[in-house]
Amino acid sequence: MNAHTETKPAAAVNETTQKASETTLLDPRFYTTDFDELDRIDVTPVREEWDKLIAEMRSDPNKTHFKKTEDWDPVDWENMDPELKKELTDFLVSSLTAEFSGCVLYKEMKRRGNNPDICELFNYMARDEARHAGFINDALREANIGVNLGFLTKAKKYTYFRPKFIYYATYLSEKIGYARYITIYRHLEKHPEHRIHPIFKWFEQWCNDEFRHGEAFALLMKTDPKLTESFVNKLWIRFFLVAVFSVMYVRDHARPAFHEALGIDIDEYDHEVFRKTSVIARQVFPIEVDIDNPRWQRGLERLRAAMTDMDSARRKGGVGGFFGRMTAGARSGAAFMSLYMIPVKRNAVPENPRLVPAY
Ligand SMILES: [Fe+2]
Ligand SMILES: [Fe+2]
Repeated sequence: MNAHTETKPAAAVNETTQKASETTLLDPRFYTTDFDELDRIDVTPVREEWDKLIAEMRSDPNKTHFKKTEDWDPVDWENMDPELKKELTDFLVSSLTAEFSGCVLYKEMKRRGNNPDICELFNYMARDEARHAGFINDALREANIGVNLGFLTKAKKYTYFRPKFIYYATYLSEKIGYARYITIYRHLEKHPEHRIHPIFKWFEQWCNDEFRHGEAFALLMKTDPKLTESFVNKLWIRFFLVAVFSVMYVRDHARPAFHEALGIDIDEYDHEVFRKTSVIARQVFPIEVDIDNPRWQRGLERLRAAMTDMDSARRKGGVGGFFGRMTAGARSGAAFMSLYMIPVKRNAVPENPRLVPAY
């Protein structure tokens, strides 16, 4: 796999595959890293918890879960409101890309590694993400808009992250993935009339896979206290918290019809996902974003407005578009900085990080 593959022109692939291949600021990315450094991790300091987690993954609790059953109600793609259809497709493609991104990274680590602990873990995680991506792709294929995953692997641009950044970013995306899936699932349990697609029925057991993946990264970070305790790394953790949360906010707010159909208020939903993720992340991060500070919501809104303008300037193109992009870009940067500067809350991190899904 080439670490710096540029996006190639899409020949003979459908529109959803092309969409999934794009890498803008908001699209889920594909990552590559220093696999040799990752391979050198020694899990001895967390051996007891590590072995328990690996045994759970080895037992493969979701082995038969990702199959369509009679619970899979038919979806009327033909007669769906066009705006909703567009946003539901966008949600599925974006989720598929995120799932598959994990699959590609984990599989590559397994392939390149020699460390039996690391290889076994990444093998199970790649297995799970391949199932998740495959299941979403089945749903897209029903609408004749399946994504060509082989093409995506070759065409998508890969972003290089040092292993410690992979831990912060991937830990957070696994835990946020859990929080997102379980929050939607619990909401639709109470309001089945809003279940616009059968895939949501599969989210409960699905999100337990994401929870376990997050646990694995929490343990990996625990093998080296510097990763979460040094002054510089705390600044990085703060950066990733703000970045991952704010990208989620902007992305969700770009899908108003989808959330309306689900009966979900986007602000409330996002706040709830931030809350759950922050509570979970206390297992390993010594700081958390103060999501109840009034500056937080205001800053997110400023960032969203600036990024929406940046996107329309990009579409417009030409000189006007260029200047529009520059000014909106500067506004986005300022809004991001204002979010980053909000004083964080401090946590006393427990000795043993392990948690079980509780929502
Ligand atoms: Fe997944
Ligand atoms: Fe995952």
